[in-house]
Amino acid sequence: MYRIGVIGAGFVGLATATVLAERGHEVICSDVQEKRVNQLNDGQLPIVEDELEEVMRKFLKIGTLRFTTSNLLAVSSADYVFLCLATPSQVDGTANVDVLYDVIKEIREQMKPGAVLVVKSTVPIGTTRKLRDVLSRFDCSVVSNPEFLREGRALFDSRSPDRIIIGADNLAIAREVGKLFTSNTELVQVSSYESAELIKYASNAFLAMKVSYINDIAALCEAFDTDIAAVVQGVGSDTRIGREFLNPGPGWGGSCFPKDTLALTVMAENVGVKLELVEATIRANERHRYSIVEKIKSRLTSTSSRVAVLGLTFKAGTSDVRESPSIEIVQELIRQGLEVVAFDPTVRTGSDLGMGKTFRIVDSPLEACISADVIAVLTEWDDFRLLDPNDVGHLVRHRAVIDARNHLDQDAWVGADFDYVGVGRI
Ligand code: UDX
Repeated sequence: MYRIGVIGAGFVGLATATVLAERGHEVICSDVQEKRVNQLNDGQLPIVEDELEEVMRKFLKIGTLRFTTSNLLAVSSADYVFLCLATPSQVDGTANVDVLYDVIKEIREQMKPGAVLVVKSTVPIGTTRKLRDVLSRFDCSVVSNPEFLREGRALFDSRSPDRIIIGADNLAIAREVGKLFTSNTELVQVSSYESAELIKYASNAFLAMKVSYINDIAALCEAFDTDIAAVVQGVGSDTRIGREFLNPGPGWGGSCFPKDTLALTVMAENVGVKLELVEATIRANERHRYSIVEKIKSRLTSTSSRVAVLGLTFKAGTSDVRESPSIEIVQELIRQGLEVVAFDPTVRTGSDLGMGKTFRIVDSPLEACISADVIAVLTEWDDFRLLDPNDVGHLVRHRAVIDARNHLDQDAWVGADFDYVGVGRI
């Protein structure tokens, strides 16, 4: 059992702290937001994340997981200190890592001799080495350990990782860090700091490319009147390609892909390398979002103007609307003078979204559909698949549905006389 300090109680910090407590360690997690810390100590998780709250409560109760506003408290007796701080985009597209330097300066004197600092935040290539220099504690070690967990699957991904990447200059320490998360040493891959940092960016950019690629192929299916589902099945059955991340939709979003693809292209450009594929992926993603707006508009008549939007989060299973395609699509609809009535199971108020008076959030998907001229399903929540198109048909003004995730039962909606438009579906 080790004593572990986790700095940052965001999505990655909370998952890391909880999983390490579950693996038998004593964990103190710190965050500057007092309200958040109080809430966490009361057993309330400030994010929507399957199972995480339950497990977090269990270890709070046992006493091996605690939250504090003091970074020094988290660090002072810790054998391992995890940095799980956000690195948001700056105006030039690069990641802002100032907070990491600030925290290192704050904690450097407090780290106990022999402690290991683990950088989990996604940081530009070269940052971990610089952080090590700023820490400047020759009796402590620094490793890079990028995080690959998905929102909505945080606990599952943390418990069953595909691989654990450790960037380090000391193999023995790297292996020890790997052991904190798994007893299967084959999962642990040790590399240089820089390789570890790049693995994170290269993975996210590749997955984003995969999604954009299938969205382009879906557009081609529409042009040739053929079905994307068959194409995906055929292409994805090639084990070299794989079936995952081939679901067409309104484009990728969230707190990672947009930020990391942009940062990667800027980082590359700054060293004279042009990442044309990633740049094209970012452009294609914009186009894919806009193509959903066009589909919605194509079903409106000159006198109709109300759109029912089902789903605001960037994907199902989360309450996160950061860089959500749905939000951009709604913004564009509103800019074009349309009225939007939305429902999302995890977004209960629109006050933070700054959409104006022609945007409203209601309490159920059926309520959103009342008098709608077109329905747009933008996030793949189960609730939407369970809707009975016949019930919905009685509520709407016009029977038109844009299924931006190919999430609905097309036959059922067509059977209920809906003009059904999917993505790459005939
Ligand atoms: C991603 C990475 O998967 C994870 O490894 C990293 O640590 C953080 O970024 P996350 O942001 O939670 O995780 O979302 P993910 O499930 O990867 O989806 C990203 C976006 O791609 C979402 O907008 C999603 O809707 C979209 N997507 C994904 C598709 O449109 N089609 C797919 O087939 C898969």
